[in-house]
Amino acid sequence: MKVICTEKSQILATRLARAQKTTVVDVKYSRFPDGESYLVAGELDDETVIVSSVVDNDAFVQLLLLIDACEGSDLRLVIPYMGYARQDRKIRQGEPLSARAVAQAISRGVSECITVNIHEPDVLRFFGAPARNISLAKDIGTYISTLNLKNPLILAPDEGALAFAGQVASVGGWEFDHLEKTRLNGEQVSMTPKVLSVESHPVVIVDDIISTGGTIATSAGMLYSQGATDVYASCVHGVLTGGAYVRLMEAGIRDIICSDTIERGCSKVSAAGQISDALKTRKKR
Ligand code: R5P
Repeated sequence: MKVICTEKSQILATRLARAQKTTVVDVKYSRFPDGESYLVAGELDDETVIVSSVVDNDAFVQLLLLIDACEGSDLRLVIPYMGYARQDRKIRQGEPLSARAVAQAISRGVSECITVNIHEPDVLRFFGAPARNISLAKDIGTYISTLNLKNPLILAPDEGALAFAGQVASVGGWEFDHLEKTRLNGEQVSMTPKVLSVESHPVVIVDDIISTGGTIATSAGMLYSQGATDVYASCVHGVLTGGAYVRLMEAGIRDIICSDTIERGCSKVSAAGQISDALKTRKKR
């Protein structure tokens, strides 16, 4: 078995190849003068694992080309971060169901798909091949343990992320809760934990994605005013768009912890171990 990847998933692909005691196939990427993508893959094996986060439209096109270039090999596809997965329902007439469009396009020609903390697990049914999701909650919890925080509280920014916060918290036996938004007036909202008090506690806010950082930056300010000693931000997928890193640091976040599903300077947790374990079994139709 060999690993192959698109350009923006090189680090995770290399870590995975090492965990699997195999190599990463060399791929030459280029563009035509009109901007169209082109690639040439090196020698493949009978079994190939593609590692490709759909971080942007270019990565999506590269993935489609790579799947086609790997024709003839038994292909398993690992999508560490699946862009468009948040567009998982149609709200207005005429809208696409983008998560379905992407899932169907990238699963053509592959025998199995593995996602990592996909935003909405229901999206797995859109793949044209058997698909399953793995979680880095325990890996994030393990990293948080190395911070040696005294009685940290693990907080989800909303109720939807509470189960994830609970899995992270179970690693250290820490207390966990979710934030509740209360509208004070037309402009102002307050964010407080539903049950716990953060006074004199360090807090780690955990979520699947940090995108603009707006949710966590707003929460951090509120938590400091409620007496939290330190506020950390952690997520699986550090999308960190439009100056999010700066916004979070300016809001007083002590550190940002994310994984290498998207390769960032703050990628402190690797998905390679979990993916490697997942590859030991196969999901059948
Ligand atoms: C949304 O449902 C996700 O779980 C995250 O809470 C969201 O993407 C965070 O967005 P932002 O960083 O832009 O506040």
